[in-house]
Amino acid sequence: MNMHDVAKRGLVLLGCGKMGSAMLAGWLRNGLPAASIWVIDPHPSEWLRKQGVNIGGALPQSPAIVVVAVKPQMMAEALPDVKSLGGGATLVISVAAGTPLALFEDMLGENTPIIRAMPNTPAAIGRGITALIGNGDTGESDLDLAEALLLAVGQVVRLESEDQMDAVTAVSGSGPAYVFHLIETLAAAGVAQGLPADLAMDLAKATVGGAGELAETADDDPAQLRVNVTSPNGTTQAALEVLMDDETGFGPLLRRAVAAAADRSRELGRG
Ligand SMILES: NC(=O)c1ccc[n+]([C@@H]2O[C@H](COP(=O)([O-])OP(=O)(O)OC[C@H]3O[C@@H](n4cnc5c(N)ncnc54)[C@H](OP(=O)(O)O)[C@@H]3O)[C@@H](O)[C@H]2O)c1
Repeated sequence: MNMHDVAKRGLVLLGCGKMGSAMLAGWLRNGLPAASIWVIDPHPSEWLRKQGVNIGGALPQSPAIVVVAVKPQMMAEALPDVKSLGGGATLVISVAAGTPLALFEDMLGENTPIIRAMPNTPAAIGRGITALIGNGDTGESDLDLAEALLLAVGQVVRLESEDQMDAVTAVSGSGPAYVFHLIETLAAAGVAQGLPADLAMDLAKATVGGAGELAETADDDPAQLRVNVTSPNGTTQAALEVLMDDETGFGPLLRRAVAAAADRSRELGRG
């Protein structure tokens, strides 16, 4: 199966909120015909209504793909709408956090190929990163297809086992919020040093955005990039001595934060 089959057989999107809309925008941008897309959502947004996709109404009999993008707590209510598509012919891709493959297998029936994906919010600007893992009924071509679909909203990586998903959720799924908080606190620290709030915020946003882009594109790894901007006994070194403290620095702090998110993801997965 490939994107051509998706255009021919159809794609059903269950739940079109923030993540569903970000993906839909990417698919349309990449040339998937609006007429090949069916959306199920109780309150279609104004933006969605203008996209020319099928909203509500009868679903195609055997669509190539169903993408599940409802909140985990809505799953039991929403999945029955696509239950008839379980059983083999349709690939199911879920982006729901903390919802294990086994739950979809239980609700959609045996032999259903299911891929669990964890995207993140920069997907909204095509700069997300999504991790994928499939159940035993998925093959290489299913993963290739899911990858092609999710490349529309950023990079894609594949996992080796589903239990990695909790750590992925804690690093890249929830990660944008940590970076937003870094921006907030960097700006606040600038204000504490006497800068006006909006100037401090502009400096913090551009610094995080620019450094992120540099880290992604430079040949040097982030550790080397850090060394490159740290002159002995200079200003950066003074700050890094605080941030790299073994007990009170970023290292132990982020380790605790990521562990808390991963623990919560495991808890949610147990239901
Ligand atoms: N946002 C992220 O950064 C992110 C990252 C990774 C994974 N995810 C996952 O993506 C999924 C969606 O998250 P989101 O942030 O996009 O949430 P959201 O904005 O609340 O979107 C969920 C959408 O599903 C709709 N919905 C509710 N009940 C439904 C039903 N029975 N049938 C069909 N649609 C229904 C909601 O409509 P109403 O609003 O009218 O109820 C809403 O439009 C979640 O499972 C989340 O774990 C999100």
